[in-house]
Amino acid sequence: MKNLKELWNYMKGNRSRYLGAVISIGLATIFSLAAPLIIKVTIDSIIGSKELEAPIWIERMITEFGGVEVLRDKLWIPAAVIVGFAVVRGVFLFLKGKWSAEAAEKVAKRIRDGVYNHLQYLPYQYHVNAETGDLIQRCTSDVETIRKFLATQFVEIGSALFMLLFTIYIMLPMDITLTLISMALIPIIFIFTVIFFIKVKEAFRLMEEAEGKMSSTLQENLTGLRVVRAFGRQAHEVEKFDKNNKTNRDLTYKLIRLFAWYWSISDFMCMLQMGIVLMTSVYWTFTGRITLGTMVVFNTYVGMLLWPIRQMGRVITDLGKAMVSLERISEILDVPKEIMENTSEKPAIEGSISFKDVSFEYEKDKPILKNISFDVKAGETIAILGPTGAGKTTLVHLLARLFDYQKGSITIDGKELKDIDKKWIRKNVGLILQEPFLFAKSIKENIRLGKGNAPDDEVYSVAKVASIHDVVLEFDKGYETLVGERGVSLSGGQKQRLAIARTLISDAPIVVFDDSLSAVDTETDAAIRGALKKRKNNATTFIISHRIATLSEADFILVLDKGQLVEMGKHEDLINQKGLYSRIWKIQSLEDEILGKSS
Ligand SMILES: Nc1ncnc2c1ncn2[C@@H]1O[C@H](COP(=O)(O)OP(=O)(O)OP(=O)(O)O)[C@@H](O)[C@H]1O
Ligand SMILES: [Mg+2]
Repeated sequence: MKNLKELWNYMKGNRSRYLGAVISIGLATIFSLAAPLIIKVTIDSIIGSKELEAPIWIERMITEFGGVEVLRDKLWIPAAVIVGFAVVRGVFLFLKGKWSAEAAEKVAKRIRDGVYNHLQYLPYQYHVNAETGDLIQRCTSDVETIRKFLATQFVEIGSALFMLLFTIYIMLPMDITLTLISMALIPIIFIFTVIFFIKVKEAFRLMEEAEGKMSSTLQENLTGLRVVRAFGRQAHEVEKFDKNNKTNRDLTYKLIRLFAWYWSISDFMCMLQMGIVLMTSVYWTFTGRITLGTMVVFNTYVGMLLWPIRQMGRVITDLGKAMVSLERISEILDVPKEIMENTSEKPAIEGSISFKDVSFEYEKDKPILKNISFDVKAGETIAILGPTGAGKTTLVHLLARLFDYQKGSITIDGKELKDIDKKWIRKNVGLILQEPFLFAKSIKENIRLGKGNAPDDEVYSVAKVASIHDVVLEFDKGYETLVGERGVSLSGGQKQRLAIARTLISDAPIVVFDDSLSAVDTETDAAIRGALKKRKNNATTFIISHRIATLSEADFILVLDKGQLVEMGKHEDLINQKGLYSRIWKIQSLEDEILGKSS
């Protein structure tokens, strides 16, 4: 019920189109039901000699054309009227199709826009956990199911109702008993349909799930194809897909079997109904209880009526499918958007930062950061070292307000971070993510993501700082080279450097390198750091790295372990402290020594 209401809300602005479609179908129904009446009058009173007994509008038409006697010699006139009615009916059917298709298209677009828009504003954590394949399915095929239902089936319900009401209205005065006989099996057919619908809905849900699983497997396999190859897991993957594919096939078979039963049984019942009416009416025509024309009317109407009633089975099934889809879409829309307070401040940011007793946990009672305190002056470079899972990425994500700290206080230039506008802070904290993502656009466009209107010179200049300029110039199309599937395949280090250029161009006063130099060689690493220092905008810089050489020149170094700040200070001080830092330093200098000797 809640879903129906939601659907009704989405139809806002298009409801009059739907009303137009329903009225059109009503009028089309009237015109298609009128033709058998004209045939009846023609048989009974124009060709035959029964006294004229017809609705008032037919009588009027006969008088217009000069009466029964005239028409008897010009039988083409009733024929032409029937053709004329068919044309008018066609026009109304066209209008119905046009309006309902237009409205459905608009509603579908609105739903798609709504979901897409909503997805953009969901909290960071939602996307960390979400399954991309499933989200894609919801944004595309689920919306399509709703669109199809709205475009074709929705008005079908109206059509069947109109048909039922009009036929009863016309048949009843002709012969009550025969009307009742004509309708005898309709409730049974309808109930049968509803039972079928309940059965089929479950089958559909199972099939949909299997289909989703299959496409997830496919999606995962395609994205991870390199891993699959590298580990020689092709056979295993093929088997996994085959299993999913089989389940999908079996469920589809089951559904088709259900449908086969449905169509054959309902066909049988419809034929039975038509047979009963045919036999009764022929017999009664013989006995003289009804006229030949009335017999024709009843038989035509029953034929016309049964089709939409049986069609209702399909409509209701699709209604069920549409409801399931709507539910899946609502699940996304029901997740609250990230709260973006607009009232917060947007101070100019210089870049001094202070952490005081900051604690943070993703899940309750599983602290990831514990009582972190340190101070940074504007323009300083801070290095962060720590084993994997220590909380380094988490710490810098707090700075960009991707998550909010639960205890303690973080201030930027003396202002509490929580009071600064989220969008504003993200603009001012240039974050180079640990796993950079590049868009399937040209290299230039990828860099410009950080600053849409940057002139070419600026693009080149940041690319030089990121040590990627010369690499780009070697590509055939230079900066216009496409990145990704249809373009050039970049190496891990090239991707990292592009991501660095993209962040640098935004000129943010705070820049964070989250392990962003891990895939570049030591020399390039040093070159990038050297170039960074020479930039005129002297940003406060955080560098997360596992490489001591990268960290050692920083103004001070934070050493994190299991969410705790275990050491802090300059390179020289930390070496003397004989802690984690000095241990790692020893291992790495030993490596250098060995490598140095062997080369
Ligand atoms: N979005 C998240 N939701 C829940 N837990 C998370 C999330 N991100 C990270 N964690 C957990 O928090 C801990 C710290 O993760 P974090 O990414 O900060 O480590 P890290 O120091 O950056 O490690 P690495 O050097 O491997 O990048 C880990 O135990 C991780 O499982
Ligand atoms: Mg990390």
